[in-house]
Amino acid sequence: MNKAVYPGSFDPTTNGHMDIIFRASRIVDKLIVGVLQNPSKTPLFSIDERVNHLKMLTQNINNIEIISFSGLLIDFVQSVNAKVVIRGLRAVTDFEYEFQMALTNRILVPEVETLFISTSTQFLFLSSSVVKEIAMFGGNVEAMVPAQIKEALKDKLDI
Ligand code: PNS
Repeated sequence: MNKAVYPGSFDPTTNGHMDIIFRASRIVDKLIVGVLQNPSKTPLFSIDERVNHLKMLTQNINNIEIISFSGLLIDFVQSVNAKVVIRGLRAVTDFEYEFQMALTNRILVPEVETLFISTSTQFLFLSSSVVKEIAMFGGNVEAMVPAQIKEALKDKLDI
């Protein structure tokens, strides 16, 4: 079985993430979305909230599973028996960080390949950080996140 992990912080999930999720789920047998629980960062949404958002947003995709992880991505990939990591690539600015991560992971476990899916053009400059900043200052994030995330941001930020 062709199993892949799409990892990230998903704080919160954006339309850009959903674009990659839909497209990746069509090219692999099983897609596992790995949600990072990073103790050294304080996310806006808790790990349970981020996992629940993704579960809700992907309920119509039948070959997907949402799982939280902590520690090294490559250990998580091996623990779920996947051989592929999927990452979305936006502008050139993503490249160096993503390339470093892919090469480091390959040094750690050469059997696991990183595949990059290029973003759809409308999401080129979209990121969770930009979404949070806009939402915090009362801007409209409707075109950037699913409706459920827009509501979750409203509740969380009390706006
Ligand atoms: O959505 P993000 O925040 O860009 O995702 C980054 C993520 C979660 C893929 C990355 O930070 C990660 O894999 N963290 C786990 C720790 C790890 O494996 N570090 C070594 C990678 S070189």
